[in-house]
Amino acid sequence: MRKSLHSIHILASALAILVSGTVLAQPIQDGGFEPTPGQPGKDVVWVPTPYSTLDKMLEMAKVTPRDFVMDLGSGDGRMVIAAAKRGARAQGVEYNPDLVALSTRNAAAEGVSDRARFVQGDMYEADISQATVLALFLLPENLRKLVPKFLQLPAGTRILNNGYKIPDWQEVETGTAGGDCEPWCTVHLYLVPAKVEGTWRLPAGEVNFTQDFQTLKGVLAAGGRMQQVEGTVKGDQIRFTAGLDVYTGRVSGNRMSGEASGATGGHWSATRK
Ligand SMILES: C[S@@+](CC[C@H](N)C(=O)[O-])C[C@H]1O[C@@H](n2cnc3c(N)ncnc32)[C@H](O)[C@@H]1O
Repeated sequence: MRKSLHSIHILASALAILVSGTVLAQPIQDGGFEPTPGQPGKDVVWVPTPYSTLDKMLEMAKVTPRDFVMDLGSGDGRMVIAAAKRGARAQGVEYNPDLVALSTRNAAAEGVSDRARFVQGDMYEADISQATVLALFLLPENLRKLVPKFLQLPAGTRILNNGYKIPDWQEVETGTAGGDCEPWCTVHLYLVPAKVEGTWRLPAGEVNFTQDFQTLKGVLAAGGRMQQVEGTVKGDQIRFTAGLDVYTGRVSGNRMSGEASGATGGHWSATRK
């Protein structure tokens, strides 16, 4: 399978530092298979997320025992195991069977086998529909290919990626791991946006939204007037302006409601037409 020079170049540039021992704070002492940072993978090489970065990722995601955390390309299992240690159910999908076996042994050694599961498979084929959090370390080209799957997830699902941004998406937060973490210490958090494209009935009239990931544009037809609408959706939170009026609220399936300021101030609600 194709693995771009870009990926090899960028991840290999981290390799020199990784193998110097500064990041692998807990080297793998498995007695069996030992992965080597930079070793080939199906669509991206293996480089582990530093422990301080994965802690930052799970902290930014506010992972709780109610979550189901998935890592696509789960490597030695460290992200999944860390999530399980926070009480969450977690699953890794990893193509390399040796890494899957190692992850399974690591989870047992850490006493979290009941909550940390690993499956051998291709991340592009994986069922991610139950995930409430995706905690990833993938390249932009991997993320781009996964975007259609991401957009199928419920509004508000948290997606974090170590290092790289999801192309064309707008992060809600960027964080940096503390301590002497270097490299791969910057994390981007995204929320899957509610799907609001289409026509909605507001008390003031009808609004037609077009949606490009988080960005909304549209027209509000009210009282014989047409007003340009601009807005954003972050998870299930919506905000849009129509003339001088500002609408903020929450989207829940085919309904949205909230508060408006300006001439139409007060509570508002809308239903999908
Ligand atoms: C950059 S490493 C990240 C490892 C781990 N997520 C972490 O943060 O430490 C990427 C991992 O993806 C795996 N991988 C590459 N292509 C894959 C694919 N198509 N499906 C599943 N795993 C894949 C590699 O074997 C490697 O372990």
